Amino acid sequence: MHLGNCHNFYDFRALAQRKLPGPIFNYIDGAADDEATLRQNTASFERCDLVPNILRGVEKIDMSVTVMGQKLAMPVYCSPTALQRLFHHQGERAVAAAAAKFGTMFGVSSLGTVSLEELRKAYDTPQVYQFYFHKDRALNRAMMQRAKDAGINVMALTVDSITGGNRERDLRTGFSIPFQLSFGGMLQFAIKPMWAINYLTHERFALPQLDEHVDMSGGAISIGRYFTEMLDAAMNWTDVAEMVRAWNGQFCLKGLMSVADARRAVDIGCTGIILSNHGGRQLDGSRAAFDQLAEIVDAVGDRIDVMMDGGVRRGTHVLKALSLGAKAVGVGRYYLFPLAAAGQAGVERALNLMRTEIERDMKLMGCSSIRELSRANLRFR
Ligand SMILES: Cc1cc2nc3c(=O)[nH]c(=O)nc-3n(C[C@H](O)[C@H](O)[C@H](O)COP(=O)(O)O)c2cc1C
Repeated sequence: MHLGNCHNFYDFRALAQRKLPGPIFNYIDGAADDEATLRQNTASFERCDLVPNILRGVEKIDMSVTVMGQKLAMPVYCSPTALQRLFHHQGERAVAAAAAKFGTMFGVSSLGTVSLEELRKAYDTPQVYQFYFHKDRALNRAMMQRAKDAGINVMALTVDSITGGNRERDLRTGFSIPFQLSFGGMLQFAIKPMWAINYLTHERFALPQLDEHVDMSGGAISIGRYFTEMLDAAMNWTDVAEMVRAWNGQFCLKGLMSVADARRAVDIGCTGIILSNHGGRQLDGSRAAFDQLAEIVDAVGDRIDVMMDGGVRRGTHVLKALSLGAKAVGVGRYYLFPLAAAGQAGVERALNLMRTEIERDMKLMGCSSIRELSRANLRFR
């Protein structure tokens, strides 16, 4: 198996599995508890059928969208994910470069491994900064100011991770940052020497979004402890309303799922919401975002940009979400496995396949622009 043989998500996943040490592959691939939500995320798209129209003159396809004030050449963006230089030494640089090439938006995680300033300067495409709410309010203010100074286009506060999810695969492999590997885990690294050589011969692992504020690099605090000790489980709507006011720009909540919460997000002045269950990695049993989408679009879709992520593996999944009323769709593992498999070339190939699929599927649906997609194109089983 090599990059040229990768034609879909599952091919990239298989190639990534061959290249990555087991604990790292399982960190990306895994989810919380019984991983039921992880499975539901993709299954939810399969309970919905497409009803195409014909003879509509579809020789030219326009798949561009505008979301949260950002014009995107395709309706899919790279959702923020942590620790990318652990998956491939190019890390966030590869994802940002590929996103820029395809004219789409990418998210940089506050647990990212390349600084938001470097990425903002180097890649001319909309950039979302994802952050968590800390107990230390001065730290929250400092991180927001830093993002403002860097010229970040969109702020995304992740609200589904008030505490860490129960990732049993990670417990079994001993995956943690900084590394504290079990003997079995160490063997898994030893049998992937190419990964180990790349990891060890490139710049030292770091978390530059946090290093300035929190001593994590020296092993003083693990990511598990970061979630339980530094993040504020007492965070509430008043706190977030204050942040939205302070940011005074494009601000979205990531990981919201209920209609009531969507209404409150509008009330406090958010300009976007991302329906998400964090790829099934937080609350197992949580509903798939796609299943919640219609209700939420009906409640607030005329007042706020509704996006979603989770389980998206195909162009048809994206078209289904857009037909229901999403403004754009995020992907996580869809670009992470290609990143692990082949760095920037992998992410570019994945985005190219996605763009090609969307274009082909729009033609087959009889739609030449995203605006033409509607619920008339869908039937639920
Ligand atoms: C390995 C990994 C790391 C992630 N890290 C973050 C993160 O740091 N912050 C965040 O808000 N979401 C994070 N997510 C969630 C993604 O942004 C996104 O919601 C999810 O991956 C969507 O599901 P999908 O992988 O099925 O596309 C992560 C997901 C994965 C798979």
